[in-house]
Amino acid sequence: MGLLDGKVAIVTGAGRGIGRAEALLLASEGASVVVNDLGGDWTGEGKDDRPAQQVVDEVEATGGTAVANYDDVASWEGAQGLIGQAVDTYGALDVLVNNAGILRDKMSFNMTEDDWDAVVKVHLKGHFCPSRFAAAHWRQRSKETGAPVRAAIVNTASESGLYGNAGQLNYAAAKAGIAAMTVVLARELERVGVRVNAIAPVARTRLTESLSGGFMEQKEGDFDRFAPENVAPVVAWLASDLAAGVSGQVVKVQGGVLQLVQGWRPLTEVKADKPWTVDAVDEARSALFARSEAGVPPFMFEVGG
Ligand SMILES: NC(=O)c1ccc[n+]([C@@H]2O[C@H](COP(=O)([O-])OP(=O)(O)OC[C@H]3O[C@@H](n4cnc5c(N)ncnc54)[C@H](O)[C@@H]3O)[C@@H](O)[C@H]2O)c1
Repeated sequence: MGLLDGKVAIVTGAGRGIGRAEALLLASEGASVVVNDLGGDWTGEGKDDRPAQQVVDEVEATGGTAVANYDDVASWEGAQGLIGQAVDTYGALDVLVNNAGILRDKMSFNMTEDDWDAVVKVHLKGHFCPSRFAAAHWRQRSKETGAPVRAAIVNTASESGLYGNAGQLNYAAAKAGIAAMTVVLARELERVGVRVNAIAPVARTRLTESLSGGFMEQKEGDFDRFAPENVAPVVAWLASDLAAGVSGQVVKVQGGVLQLVQGWRPLTEVKADKPWTVDAVDEARSALFARSEAGVPPFMFEVGG
């Protein structure tokens, strides 16, 4: 018995990297998988059907069930077609893993309009469009059956967005947006029985191999901490009924460490019973900002695990 027997899953950007490992694991757990990948380069240029098809071939070689989809997830029609393909091919959709992503790192003062638009589009709109059509499918299904659909979305955030990495203004804005979307979607879809969570992964892929300075290489005698296959079980668990009751959460997975990460919340509070003046705000300064909270927060990227 597989964890996801009888379930239908879509993984976006599943032609390589983390998405590929997720698609292979979901299929090995019994899900029928739609393997989506546009197949461009890591900056989002170009198109190639082979990565998605190769993953489908790998799934089928081990006795699993999968079909390829080559659409751009950030396209309205593409995302509609993607959800439609899952429903037409396998009769329903139960799991949507939003994973597709690109990078165009630059400091803000060097970033072009195109660098901004491309990254924000692939990540934010590329999470929104498939989620929107999946949500409509689930809402309709729940209306027809009168029962919760027991479905799940797993989004892909990044600690770059959660903590704010310099050089990634476009990417961090999009990934922080994805964390916020995770909470909003979780609230919106709770009634129809859809759980929505996100991961913040760290793994050795083409997006990180030039940035990591070698710390992601496998160490002799250790397990392969930064293999994309080490991220996939977190997604399979979140996607499965084992995670019943878990929704609106962001889980970081780095090496052998899982962390539950939660975001914006009041840290300090100052109250007034009359309109604020600049002087009154200045007087509140020391109560509002403890010494350690007044400067730019440190980036919390932790190596190791
Ligand atoms: N690797 C890491 O350490 C890390 C850290 C934090 C977040 N992430 C996120 O994990 C996700 C997967 O990244 P990865 O490291 O496996 O990179 P990757 O480049 O190996 O895989 C991303 C895949 O997405 C596909 N893709 C890109 N744009 C697409 C589009 N518009 N439509 C369909 N497919 C598209 C690409 O063709 C590629 O196969 C991304 O969202 C990334 O931002 C990765």
